Amino acid sequence: MSALMLLLLGLLSLFVFFCLLCGRKRRDGEPPLITGWIPFFGKALEFGQDAHKFLEKHKKKYGDVFTVHLAGKYMTFIMDPLLYPSIIKHGRQLDFQEFAGKVAPITFGYPFVVPALQEQIHRSFKLLQGDNLSTLTESMMGNLMLVLRQDHMGERSGWRSGSMYDFCNSVMFEATFLTMYGRPAAGCRHSGMRALRDDFVRFDNMFPLLIAGIPVWLLGRTKAIRDKLIGYFLPHRMSCWSNTSEFIRMRSGLFEQYDALRDVDKAAHHFAILWASVGNTIPATFWAMYYLVSHPAALQRVRQEIHDVLRLDGVEFSSDTDLMLDREQLEKLVYLESAINESLRLSSASMNIRVAQEDFSLRLDAERSLGVRKGDFIALYPQSMHMDPDIYDQPQSFRVDRYIQDGRLKTDFYKDGRKLKYYLMPFGSGSSMCPGRYFAVNEIKQFLCLLLLYFDLQLEEDQSQATQDLGRAGLGVMLPAADVRFRYKLHMVGPLTVGPHTVGPLTV
Ligand code: HEM
Ligand SMILES: *[C@@H]1O[C@H](CO)[C@@H](O)[C@H](O)[C@H]1NC(C)=O
Ligand SMILES: *[C@@H]1O[C@H](CO)[C@@H](O)[C@H](O)[C@H]1NC(C)=O
Ligand SMILES: *[C@@H]1O[C@H](CO)[C@@H](O)[C@H](O)[C@H]1NC(C)=O
Repeated sequence: MSALMLLLLGLLSLFVFFCLLCGRKRRDGEPPLITGWIPFFGKALEFGQDAHKFLEKHKKKYGDVFTVHLAGKYMTFIMDPLLYPSIIKHGRQLDFQEFAGKVAPITFGYPFVVPALQEQIHRSFKLLQGDNLSTLTESMMGNLMLVLRQDHMGERSGWRSGSMYDFCNSVMFEATFLTMYGRPAAGCRHSGMRALRDDFVRFDNMFPLLIAGIPVWLLGRTKAIRDKLIGYFLPHRMSCWSNTSEFIRMRSGLFEQYDALRDVDKAAHHFAILWASVGNTIPATFWAMYYLVSHPAALQRVRQEIHDVLRLDGVEFSSDTDLMLDREQLEKLVYLESAINESLRLSSASMNIRVAQEDFSLRLDAERSLGVRKGDFIALYPQSMHMDPDIYDQPQSFRVDRYIQDGRLKTDFYKDGRKLKYYLMPFGSGSSMCPGRYFAVNEIKQFLCLLLLYFDLQLEEDQSQATQDLGRAGLGVMLPAADVRFRYKLHMVGPLTVGPHTVGPLTV
């Protein structure tokens, strides 16, 4: 069963009573109303199976704006991306917190967050951006280097074979963990990281069910696993760690000011941040790596760009020394960034949900307004925009330079001949925009730089193309339906062998 379906089933249980009392009739000024013939379920079953397909089908029939009765909830979809700005700017009447503020505590097991704390938590997000990002980026680089060297660079010759998702997962999980939470009192890597990651994956598999509001006690060992994960972050353990990020230290300090928070509650907050920081980043890393390795010319283009930036800065790359790429250097890597954006376009599907705070008339554009009732959900489904052939030529294919024009950032994309304000939305929108987006893109860049510089990479033969598991549709970056086998080999370059024409191998 897919995530969205379960989300809808969860909502269903909440609103059954409401629905028993009243069936809704379309009023003047409201969008077309689509209801199913099954009471309460509305169109939920069909929607849950493949949301993208469902929405496209109804768009053809009803136009760009329509309301669907989904598991007792009325959800109005705005399908035309030219109309997105009018939704995104409505912060006050269309609220995000009302939805997220209910769902997150249930999922991660902490108590409802009081508004004062919520506000301070929001302020802590600044520490993931701006100047503070330089420190995080520097630390991430060191940690990626550490994990890659110890786990994957010992073998100096010959091909090694691996599973791509597993590879991304083990390296990114641990390096991100070390960057955010710091290192143990003794040594530079935490013992038990493997077990933590395995438990995390078990929890993550249940994540769509929890988000859907299925009580945790109905989900077998999930509660025990979550408790174990939370236990990792208890204050007496975290206080022994060193080099903890400013972001996490500020949050720990904050929680100390709230006497109502028990130690397990504080730990649950830290665990939620672990989920936020790796839950989407790891699958996003996988897709970026997969698309590059399966498009050798694109990979070579990006590898060349990295060498160019290094040479410009007078850095001599050698496989025997550790590489340091700072924020400024990462910013120059536009092809790499375009490749990452392109893979996010292809693999992300986060629904943006807002809840109407009152009955009002929502102005969509010069001609159109929309009647909205208090409590209605307004939803954007950016995947429909990402896959629109009118905006993106051949939307199913990966093009490394999709976001490049004349060697520079391309920002003009059109729909019906009109320039779009929003054309790529993997990180949400407006008030609910992901605060970790700059860090996320930087760490994926760093991972790929190291991979492309230090290794030769090949897909193993006789595999079908990677496909998406739709279980996450609506909730973020999709996981691959099955892992992909690949080979990697340390690419030996000493400082002396790097000349202007010998950078990188031509085999991929
Ligand atoms: C490719 C990687 C990532 C993607 C695609 C992503 C996507 C998102 C999206 C779509 C939201 C908004 C949720 C909504 O509208 O319902 C969000 C929220 C959030 N993300 Fe990310 N994210 C990524 C990486 C990260 C990282 C690395 C961090 C932290 C280090 C992070 C921290 C957060 C936090 C704390 C929120 C909640 C913000 C709030 O409560 O207002 N994310 N993310
Ligand atoms: C983070 O940023 C704040 C203000 O922008 C600054 O005061 C603080 O020193 C920064 N911390 C780090 C570690 O860069
Ligand atoms: C630990 O933090 C210090 C100062 O905050 C920094 O100089 C050092 O490079 C960090 N070490 C690692 C391994 O991140
Ligand atoms: C990638 O996307 C982000 C928004 O998600 C944007 O700010 C950035 O400029 C894009 N970069 C490229 C090269 O398209």
